[in-house]
Amino acid sequence: MPVTTEQAPAGATYAYAGFDTLRRQDPEIAEIILGEAARQAMSLQLIAAENFTSPAVLAALGSPLANKYAEGYPGARHHGGCELVDVAERIAVDRARVLFGAEHANVQSHSGSSAVLAAYAALLRPGDTVLAMGLPFGGHLTHGSPANFSGRWFDFVPYGVDPETGLIEYDQVRALARLHRPKAIVCGSIAYPRHIDYEAFRDIADDVGAYLIADAAHPIGLVAGGAAPNPVPYADVVCATTHKVLRGPRGGMILCGAELAERIDRAVFPFTQGGAQMHTIAAKAVAFGEAETPAFAAYTHQVVANARALAAALDAEGLAITTGGTDTHLLTADPSPLGVEGPAARGRLASAGMVLDTCALPFGDGRGLRLGTAAVTTQGMGEPEMARIAVLFAGVLRGDFDPRAAREEVRELAGRFPPYPA
Ligand SMILES: Cc1ncc(COP(=O)(O)O)c(C=O)c1O
Repeated sequence: MPVTTEQAPAGATYAYAGFDTLRRQDPEIAEIILGEAARQAMSLQLIAAENFTSPAVLAALGSPLANKYAEGYPGARHHGGCELVDVAERIAVDRARVLFGAEHANVQSHSGSSAVLAAYAALLRPGDTVLAMGLPFGGHLTHGSPANFSGRWFDFVPYGVDPETGLIEYDQVRALARLHRPKAIVCGSIAYPRHIDYEAFRDIADDVGAYLIADAAHPIGLVAGGAAPNPVPYADVVCATTHKVLRGPRGGMILCGAELAERIDRAVFPFTQGGAQMHTIAAKAVAFGEAETPAFAAYTHQVVANARALAAALDAEGLAITTGGTDTHLLTADPSPLGVEGPAARGRLASAGMVLDTCALPFGDGRGLRLGTAAVTTQGMGEPEMARIAVLFAGVLRGDFDPRAAREEVRELAGRFPPYPA
């Protein structure tokens, strides 16, 4: 049952040009959009991969650029009428190149997964060996899952993390690389809370003559704001998403040096994709423009400060924080010291309005919790709010709080920080 706008506090509604038309024509879908906007505004979005894009990004997404077919690249399209969208794509590419210091940027990938697929298509042949973080340790589906193209078409060798510290063991990565002689090494994760040592990975890749692919889907927004190390100087190819800390539209991006530019572009179109989505590319350009500002740099540093504060407060409440803390926007934790396993913990927290994911833990078979601070920081929350969230969080897991009372408190807290103020 969707939450209606009537139940939403002031500022928690969402309206834009054309919405009244949608409401009149298709009230069923309009209600779902309003209900979802209210859900996002009245609960705490702690999913590490989510954020609130700006109204300007949403405006570009909902624009007539969505009507345009544009196979190919600016100046070399398979369709007519691309003069203006060509300009939008050139702006997006130029802004991405400047933002990340890359010689080449491809902004057409429809998602993070399709960016990784294109990177493999550009550098590898089916059957090649690839070394990547194992899925039980935080590797992504595209890093060798048998349920994904990666595991079906390539021979993945997994590296792990130290079961005690939760940290990548670079000596193990090097030993595996020397043993298996991979064609490519992938560094990047869905759940690793620490900075990745790209220089060490480059050194290992050079040692065995492998390509280095950085899948920076998670930290790329922090990189844009100067709050995390940049993989661009070290990796042959950097794959990323644009919708996490970077706060752009849902989509992917690839960065590389000039010598691989043509191979990457051909791997995206026509090898793995058809027409570029020009509304999304325009929205990426808007997000890159926002990410160039001092305000965005300050935001990314606050995201990390909030994640550190949340990790420390949850640690003080008795949760076991993987690696003892975080350098980034995300943290992972084992809630079992509070007497509840990850999946049950996620359910209890959800009913109290705290929305997050479960994740693998570096030790044993149990599942932990993964949470991130990108969205709540966009809302304007700081360290005092992180301390309050940790108390509510642990109280709900311990059963100290009636979930309905906690839900009310979450609504009150979230309501003070509307993601789209009126
Ligand atoms: C490391 C990593 N790679 C790839 C992806 C895939 O991104 P998408 O969901 O846009 O396909 C993700 C998404 O969370 C990710 O964390």
